[in-house]
Amino acid sequence: MAFSSNIHFIFILITFLTILKTSLSFGNISPVDGILPFSPKHVVITNKLVAQFGLLVHCTNKETDLGVRSVLINQSFGFRFRVNLFKTTNYNCVFSWPGIVRTFDIFRADRDDNSRSKCGICSECIWYISESGPCRIRRDGGPPCCFPWSS
Ligand SMILES: *[C@@H]1O[C@H](CO)[C@@H](O)[C@H](O)[C@H]1NC(C)=O
Repeated sequence: MAFSSNIHFIFILITFLTILKTSLSFGNISPVDGILPFSPKHVVITNKLVAQFGLLVHCTNKETDLGVRSVLINQSFGFRFRVNLFKTTNYNCVFSWPGIVRTFDIFRADRDDNSRSKCGICSECIWYISESGPCRIRRDGGPPCCFPWSS
């Protein structure tokens, strides 16, 4: 009995938070982004290699393997998901082009769904990939937020 009413309570809480979040959203920017779990995210990876090579992108997280994608110069590959309850969602990608293999966490909830992080929150997380590393476009139009490769 106690167990089932707990489940019931959690269900109502999640429903309430979802409605609250939806009602506070304007377009894809929500004032409660980064506070509530389950934020919807759209990660877009664009090939900006200066050498204009094709880019192979292989992204995975603990549960999901998005497969190996071939992304031509100036083209993009995107995927959508929701941040998990505990905000531990993390997608790691292997990027390769002739002679080179690099890795980078293209999504980390602690970086991309956290208003206190260096680059702030993205809901449309648009990344440009060049030889020097990935850069995330800022939604306020400021200079892109660039990172070194993890390896
Ligand atoms: C890719 O985009 C860059 C910058 O817009 C441009 O200079 C380059 O010619 C484009 N390359 C191809 C193959 O479209």
